[in-house]
Amino acid sequence: MHTIALVSQKGGTGKSTLAIGLAIAAMQDGHKVCLLEADPQGTLSNWRRRRAQAEPAVESIQDGIEFAHRVPFLERCGVTLTIIDTAAGVSEVATAAIAVADLCLIPARPSPADIEAAAPTLALVRASDKPFAFVLNQTPVRSFRVANAAGALSDTAISLNASGVLALPYIVLRNDQQDALGAGLAVTEYALGGKSADEMRGLWLWVASRLGAVAPADAPVEFGAVAANSQADLRVAG
Ligand SMILES: Nc1ncnc2c1ncn2[C@@H]1O[C@H](COP(=O)(O)OP(=O)(O)O)[C@@H](O)[C@H]1O
Ligand SMILES: [Mg+2]
Repeated sequence: MHTIALVSQKGGTGKSTLAIGLAIAAMQDGHKVCLLEADPQGTLSNWRRRRAQAEPAVESIQDGIEFAHRVPFLERCGVTLTIIDTAAGVSEVATAAIAVADLCLIPARPSPADIEAAAPTLALVRASDKPFAFVLNQTPVRSFRVANAAGALSDTAISLNASGVLALPYIVLRNDQQDALGAGLAVTEYALGGKSADEMRGLWLWVASRLGAVAPADAPVEFGAVAANSQADLRVAG
């Protein structure tokens, strides 16, 4: 089983939207997925209540210490991918989520406030020595802002001496992302042939290939494969 944590100290960057989008894209790719909600705001459980389909399960986590038994339990239950959605801000639960994850995804909008907030989040991820990727979310379709934001995130990673990467593709700001969640669906269910669905499937494929290069959290191996590709990815993203 692999575990992904969505983390960012800034609210509204898209942690919950991407957690749901990636969960459903992974399910459609054959995974058995569990969403762990470590955010009292309850975006995922509210979405789950609107949802008619049985899968995926959404389980709530109140305390970081719960991850230590919940994650191995999910693996024993046959879950192949656990996605943890965390609250904004610095919390013991978010730190514990990072510690248990194989890969941390840090969403950011292409705005100065989000780029600035990415640095302390990345510092937290670096403290756990976890592989990570930034995800540019809510981007305009085409704008100099996107390339500028990609460059600024790359600089953030480099300034923290991190072999970081920027996930591809970027996720554009579109109404169907919001409408899907309102209907208890993900964008790959709500607007199957749409551009947002294409992007979310693409992002899942990117994450899946990255996970393939990342050992499960309890395996004592080097994460060299992630580091080796990182600079190339940053160049592509710019
Ligand atoms: N790509 C996107 N396009 C349109 N709206 C988005 C997109 N990503 C997120 N949103 C919207 O932005 C708001 C914040 O997203 P959310 O996922 O709740 O962020 P977070 O969990 O980081 O606080 C929500 O209203 C959500 O519907
Ligand atoms: Mg949220």
